[in-house]
Amino acid sequence: MLRVENLGKRYRVAHQSPGNTMTLRDAIVDTAQSIVRRKPRVRSEEFWALDRVSFTVDQGERVGIIGRNGAGKSTLLKILSRITEPTRGKIELWGRVASLLEVGTGFHPELTGRENIYLNGAILGMSRSEIARKFDEIVEFAEVERFLDTPVKRYSSGMYVRLAFAVAAHLEPEILIVDEVLAVGDVQFQKKCLSKMEDVGASGRTVLFVSHNLSTVEALCTRGIVLQEGTLGFDGTAQAAVQYYLDAAYDLASSTALGLRRDRSGNGKVRVSHFRILDLNEAEVSVMQSGGDYLFEIGYQSTVNYPLHNVAVSLDIFDDRTNRLLLFRSNFTNENVSLFPSGGAIRCCVRDLPLASGAYRFSIFISHANAEVLDYITDVAPSIVEGGDFFGTGSGGLPNHCKILKRAEWSTV
Ligand SMILES: Nc1ncnc2c1ncn2[C@@H]1O[C@H](COP(=O)(O)OP(=O)(O)O)[C@@H](O)[C@H]1O
Ligand SMILES: [Mg+2]
Repeated sequence: MLRVENLGKRYRVAHQSPGNTMTLRDAIVDTAQSIVRRKPRVRSEEFWALDRVSFTVDQGERVGIIGRNGAGKSTLLKILSRITEPTRGKIELWGRVASLLEVGTGFHPELTGRENIYLNGAILGMSRSEIARKFDEIVEFAEVERFLDTPVKRYSSGMYVRLAFAVAAHLEPEILIVDEVLAVGDVQFQKKCLSKMEDVGASGRTVLFVSHNLSTVEALCTRGIVLQEGTLGFDGTAQAAVQYYLDAAYDLASSTALGLRRDRSGNGKVRVSHFRILDLNEAEVSVMQSGGDYLFEIGYQSTVNYPLHNVAVSLDIFDDRTNRLLLFRSNFTNENVSLFPSGGAIRCCVRDLPLASGAYRFSIFISHANAEVLDYITDVAPSIVEGGDFFGTGSGGLPNHCKILKRAEWSTV
């Protein structure tokens, strides 16, 4: 159905923040120079967003593509959808492709919902009467009846994605390609989409699907491909791919200094440079215990020569399938965080850690004035919770049954 051979995509980027080939000393000299000269040094660099990627997909396979931030997943889907050209290598596709990529691709903003449905059908090579037969089903699925004659540029992002998905999934493509955009919709709609994709696959059509939610990939896909910094790291069953990805994430988190990692987003004004878990005596711990009290310490370096006030810091805790369990966010409690140009550390104190025994994943998100993303990095440390006495009764909870522990009072009436 689909064959990709030795695919490569090279991008050229101009950037101000130090790349990972610099030593710490280079970075300091660089920062010092840019402060003295009062102008940032702009460097241009070429890199391969995809490099020597080869695989084939048979009819009816549902392929989950997973990989860290910046691994090249969207680039691969854009090449397969013929939105970008590969720099080298080739792709062969047998069949009509419908794709749902980032908001903004596929639909014409000035055209109405109705016109876009017909336009997309025509692009897929369907006749007017074929599209007309599918029309009501699409509108019903997308829940946009009232806005059918409104230009899609006036749609909310949720409406836009609902319609885009409905069009892509219902117009009977032989290959359906879906990027992470579904995360925009509400949970109810996401469920509807996932079951629709299952139907599409079950009816013998091929699905390529990018998701950062590993349980979704395990549930929906028959096959998994892991991309790592643009190369194909693993290709096998969905379950084996998820396990490979988890192991690689664990290795990365334990071996690479956070300040040097490239799988991050944000404008680079601030970079998380370390993450440590301390007990209340400020001693570093490697394994936490349920019910314990901890200081989560986020070290940062700043690349600007002025302080940043009104900063919001989030610490997210996920289970080992990337389901979000807890979110600690400084501005939930109106705490004002300021970051200094000299760098420093932010500490978040959590008492009575409500996690059952198991492996967890931490992400850090730092934004400025609630708008500008300064730094976002996932899997900052491999984190294990073991034992502990959350309830003070010797019962550790049942980790196979639940992940979050919470005390409750029981009575009979
Ligand atoms: N148009 C572009 N120009 C330059 N670099 C790009 C462009 N699009 C993506 N990249 C870079 O290519 C890499 C892969 O990006 P992407 O495919 O979006 O990753 P993913 O979807 O896995 O997070 C990233 O480092 C990203 O910054
Ligand atoms: Mg992407």
